[in-house]
Amino acid sequence: MSTDSSNPGTNQSWGGRFSEPTDAFVARFTASVGFDQRLALQDIQGSIAHATMLARVGVLTDVERDAIVDGLAEIRGEIERGEFAWSVPLEDVHMNIEARLTEKIGITGKKLHTGRSRNDQVATDIRLYLRDAIDGIDGELRRLREGLIELAVREADTIMPGFTHLQTAQPVTFGHHLLAWQEMLARDHERLRDCRGRVNVLPLGAAALAGTTYPIDRHVTAELLGFARPAENSLDAVSDRDFAIEFTGFASLLLMHLSRMSEELVLWTSAQFDFIDLPDRFCTGSSIMPQKKNPDVPELVRGKTGRVYGHLMGLLTLMKSQPLAYNKDNQEDKEPLFDSVDTVRDCLKAFADMVPAIEAKADNMAEAARKGFSTATDLADYLVRRGVAFRDAHEIVGQSVAYGLAQGKDLSEMTLDELRQFSATIEADVFEVLTLEGSVAARNHIGGTAPDQVRAAAQRARDALARLEQPT
Ligand code: ARG
Repeated sequence: MSTDSSNPGTNQSWGGRFSEPTDAFVARFTASVGFDQRLALQDIQGSIAHATMLARVGVLTDVERDAIVDGLAEIRGEIERGEFAWSVPLEDVHMNIEARLTEKIGITGKKLHTGRSRNDQVATDIRLYLRDAIDGIDGELRRLREGLIELAVREADTIMPGFTHLQTAQPVTFGHHLLAWQEMLARDHERLRDCRGRVNVLPLGAAALAGTTYPIDRHVTAELLGFARPAENSLDAVSDRDFAIEFTGFASLLLMHLSRMSEELVLWTSAQFDFIDLPDRFCTGSSIMPQKKNPDVPELVRGKTGRVYGHLMGLLTLMKSQPLAYNKDNQEDKEPLFDSVDTVRDCLKAFADMVPAIEAKADNMAEAARKGFSTATDLADYLVRRGVAFRDAHEIVGQSVAYGLAQGKDLSEMTLDELRQFSATIEADVFEVLTLEGSVAARNHIGGTAPDQVRAAAQRARDALARLEQPT
C-alpha cells in the first residue's frame, strides 16, 4: 500500500506529524472497524454523494469523480461478497474504504477526503444507517398494528374479565383489550416518525468542526442523499448524537409496551388463566418436564426490554458533559445503537408474526369473567338509574356480593328474591344488566368496550394507518 508517511507503522491517514508508531494495544483499543464496518454501505453512499458534489462545484474533475465513483462501486461489491479485507491498523470503516480506494485508483483516491473530515463523515453515515433502520422498523410496526386490528375485529364480541390490580374488575371485550395495545403502538409509531424527521438532516460539509474553505454546495449533497436539509451549524452537526438517543428513547417506550403485552400473553397461556393458545411454533418445551409448553417468545421480548433501557442510559451518559465539538467518546455510540435497532426489529417481527396466530379460548374467558362479581358495577348503575344515590347503591351491591361469596353464587345466579333482600328497587329486568353481554354492550360510547364500539374503533385505526404515508 503506498503511503506518504515517512514513519512506517504510523497510520497513513494522519501519521505525518508522529515520530513513533502507535502502541499496538492503543491501536486496537482505539480502533472501531470491528463494529463500524456495519456502516460500510452508508459510508460509500456518502462518499459518492460527496465526490459528485465536489465535481459539480469544480473541486474535482469529472474524470476524477468517475474514477472515485467507479472505484467505490467496486469496493461495495467486494464488501457485499465478503471479500473485503478489513484492517485494524486502518482504525475504522472510513479509512479502510479510503485506503482501498487509493490502492485501486491511485492518487485520485486521496482526493476524496477534500473538504471533509471523518467527523462529519461518521455523523452522516450514522444518520443514513439509522434512517434506513427506522424505515425497516416502521414496516414491522405497521404489520403488527394491522395484525392487532384484524384480531380485534375477529374478537370484538369475545368477553373476558377486565382487571385492575390484577383482580377481576368488569367484563371487557377481548377486541377492546387488543385495541388498547394498538393505541400504545400508534403513539410509538408517531414517536418513530417524529424521530425520523430529526435524523434526516445532513452533517456533511461541517468538516472537522468549523466548515471548509472549498466552495462546497451542501444543498446538492443533501439532495443526493435524500436528506431534508443541511444541518445549520457545523459544530453541532459533528457533535450531537441526540438523534440516536431519541431513537433509543422511542425503542425503550416501544419495548416497555411490548413487555406489557408479553406479560399478559405469558399470564394468559398459563394453566391458571388459560385464556389463549399460542401455536407450538412460537413456543418451546422443557428438557426435563415433558408436559411443558413455554411461551418463550413473549418472555424473551419482555427480557430484551432491559438491554434497550440500558442502551438509552448508556447513550445519555455518553453524551453528557461533552464539550463541543467532536470527541472520541462518540465512537461509543455505535454498538448500543446497532443493538437497539436489532432488538427492536427482531421483537417487532416476532410479535407481528405471532399476533395473528393467537387463538382466544372464549369459553374460558367468559367463565373467568363470570367469576369475581364482574357485573357488580352494573348492578350499582342499575340502582342509580332507579333513583338510588350512588354511594347507597354501592353499599347495597357490597352486601349482595358478601351474600354471594357466602353462598358461592354470582350476582346473575341469584334469584330475584335473593337480590331483593338488599333492595326492593330491584326488579326482574335486572338480569339484563347482570349478564356479561349486557354489561359490555351498555358501555356504548367512543372509547368504551361495547362490541359495536370495538368495530368502529378498529375501522378508525385502519383508516389512520392508511393515512400514514410511506416515509419519504
Ligand atoms: N471512528 C470514529 C467514530 O466512530 C470516526 C471519527 C473519528 N474522528 C476523529 N477525529 N478521530 O467516531
